[in-house]
Formats: sequence, structure tokens, C-alpha cells
Amino acid sequence: MRSARTQVGIVGAGPAGLMLGHLLHLHGIDSVILESRSREHVIERVRAGVLEQGTVDLMSDARVADRLRREGMRHDGIHIAFGGARHRIDMAELTGGRAITIYGQNEVVKDLIDARLGTGRPLHFEVDAVGVHDLLTPHPKIRFDHGGAAHELTCDVVAGCDGFHGICRSAIPAEHLRIYEREYPFGWLGVLAAAPPTSEELVYSLHDRGFALFSMRSPAITRLYLQCAPDENADDWSDDRIWAELITRLSTADGWAPAVGPILQKGVTGMRSFVAEPMRYGRLFLAGDAAHIVPPTGAKGLNLAMADVRRLADALDALYTSRREDALNAYSDRGLRRTWRAQRFSWWMTSMLHRSESDTPFDRRRQHAELEYLVGSRAAMTSLAENYVGVPFD
Ligand code: APR
Ligand code: PHB
Repeated sequence: MRSARTQVGIVGAGPAGLMLGHLLHLHGIDSVILESRSREHVIERVRAGVLEQGTVDLMSDARVADRLRREGMRHDGIHIAFGGARHRIDMAELTGGRAITIYGQNEVVKDLIDARLGTGRPLHFEVDAVGVHDLLTPHPKIRFDHGGAAHELTCDVVAGCDGFHGICRSAIPAEHLRIYEREYPFGWLGVLAAAPPTSEELVYSLHDRGFALFSMRSPAITRLYLQCAPDENADDWSDDRIWAELITRLSTADGWAPAVGPILQKGVTGMRSFVAEPMRYGRLFLAGDAAHIVPPTGAKGLNLAMADVRRLADALDALYTSRREDALNAYSDRGLRRTWRAQRFSWWMTSMLHRSESDTPFDRRRQHAELEYLVGSRAAMTSLAENYVGVPFD
């Protein structure tokens, strides 16, 4: 068994683990990041792409925003489409100038890996059999296999940034954890297409055949989603079928439609709302998807993860510079407040924009009335806008 020591042991090199490692580096705190997948897998995984202003500001403050500034696409508004018409919500005007930036999560991950490698601090890919131990002692440990050897890493704190399917949350005894969960009876078929975006901003659409979303990654790449069954096999969707459905669900009476092009990637994801409370057990702190999942309709997952690690890094800085534990003790409560705000918003966006087989005719009419109210009321649009652009990180 090879033994080593660090201040903060980080499990998972998604956006949460990588950003935490980088923020700690900027505070002069050392960490080891352990990731079970390969570097290529982590970089190539196409995920969400909407960055709140708080996430953009965090990346700028952390000096990892050079490429984001060059390639990120600032969007001041979004469109909501239903009944054959598109309605623009001018988020910047409604929120005193706040906006979102389109930049793929995998690009964020790539920039953070480059930054980590630049610091020379440890980041190990393809580690196996990761387990966390002694969490209620001042020296929690992470044991893992890497490069054919068994390792034990002794830490002051362990950060569980290992996503929804990771091992950190499940290391917490069930009686210390309260789980809140809701599964939705549908999923999203996500598509990446080599086609230039035909709208400058995102289009969220509710059609009788279900939800569709038009997004983008660059001036040459469109990102699109279709509501489908949660267990749908993406291989059952030929390119022709995908485009026919996208065009049916997205086209509006003003003649707008997405441009068609070769499909580069496709995949189905289920949708769930999930919260684990509290986000701490002894010296283990959960951050990002390890602690909470939101359905993607509100575009909040990545941003919640970033807000978590910003708060955790500041709290650890207070611990090391002034031996103060108050911020660390407040980490979970403050995070849960933000999480539940995002849960409510993501659930609301999801239920407003999806069709469910259990919908009654009453549900349909109510849903239509909700959309009409949204696009006809400045108060309702402001409510959407201030949640969509995100409240400042706290
Ligand atoms: N040991 C080491 N690493 C692990 C383990 C393990 N036992 N289990 C999982 N991991 C890794 C995963 O391979 C993944 O790279 O932890 C990482 C977790 O990353 P994400 O799932 O991206 O989660 P997070 O960093 O919290 O980012 C949240 O990701 O799912 C999206 O929409 C979500 O945008 C949100 C963001
Ligand atoms: C995306 O571009 O991948 C995206 C955009 C908005 C969402 C979800 C995903 O709500």
C-alpha cells in the first residue's frame, strides 16, 4: 500500500472536482484529484452548455476564461414557442443586464484540465476501487488502485465531486441522509448536428407531440433535444426520423425552422429531480451532481455545481488561513437553499413545457394558459428571467 498526504482529497474530475481543485490552488491549498474514467472520456462527454453569469464570473476570477471569452456566445434572451408562434423573453432587459453564455460543459472541463496540468498538482485518471474511510475523524482517507498499485491518501477533508453515480454519497450511512426524489415519465433525446444555428438564441418549444429545444455550440454546430420515452433506444431514431420530428415540433408560423445537417452524436438521458440532505457527513463534503440533480430544462446542473465549489473553496480557505469553521459549518445549509430554488425552477420549466400521457384535457388547457400568461406578463417573464440567468453566487 502506497501512502500519501494532501489537504483536500477530491473524488471526481467533472466540472465540480476540477474547479474546486483550481480554486484551492489559487488559495495555496493542495489537493489530489482522482477520476475513474480516462481523460479522453471526460473531455469528449457532451453535456449541458448554458453558463450563468455567476459561472462566467467565477471562471474569469479563477483566470480560466480566455477561451470562454473568445468562443462563448452571450445570449441576452430566449424564445418560448407554442401554438405555432415564437415569443422572445429579453432576459437582459428584465434583469438589469444579466445574460447567459453558451459554452459546452466539455469545453469547461477541457480548460480546467489544462489549468490543472499547468499547476503541476496531481490529477489521476483511470483510478479504480475508490473508497472513502474514517470520515468522522480529523484525517479521512481515500483508498484506491492506480497504475497496478494500491494507494491510501490521508486528507484533512474529502470532497465528493463524483457525480450522481459516484461512491461518496453512498458512503454516508442511510440514517444520516434524507433523500428527496422525483422521476419524470419522459427523457430527452439529445443531438449534436453539423448545421449552422438559424436562431441567435435558444428556442424552448411545446408542441402537441411533446417538447423540443433548439440550442447551439458554435456558428457551425447546432445542439437539439426532443422529449422521448425515458428508456428509449437512441438507435431507434434514424437521422431522417430525428429531423422530421425536430422540424415538426420546432417550426413556427413565421417560417422559422432549424437547419438540417449531418448528425454527429445522439443519446438519451432520463430526467429526475434529486436532493440529498445534508451535503456533509463529518469531514466529507458533497458538491455538484453527487448531492443534487435537476432536470435539464432549467439549465441549472452545471451552475449549481460551480456555486457549490465556490462556497466550499472559500470555506476551506477560511479554515486554513484563520482556523475558522463557521463557513464550513454553513456550507450545506447555504447550498441547499440555492439547490431548492433551482429545483423549484427546473421542475416548473419542465412541467410547463412537457407533455405527459397522464395529462387530462384540463391539464393541457392549464398548461396552455400558463404559457400565455408567461409571454403576456412582464412580471411572469421577469420571474423566469431572474431564475434562468441565475441569482449571484453567495
Ligand atoms: N471515483 C472517481 N471518480 C468518479 C467515481 C469514482 N468512484 N465515480 C464517478 N466519478 C467521476 C465521473 O467519471 C465524472 O467524471 O466523477 C465525475 C463527476 O462529474 P459530473 O458527473 O460531471 O458531475 P459534476 O462535476 O458534479 O458536474 C455537474 O454535470 O451531469 C452534469 O448536468 C450536470 O452540468 C452538471 C454537471
Ligand atoms: C444545451 O445547450 O445543451 C442546453 C441548453 C438549455 C437547456 C439544456 C441544455 O435547458
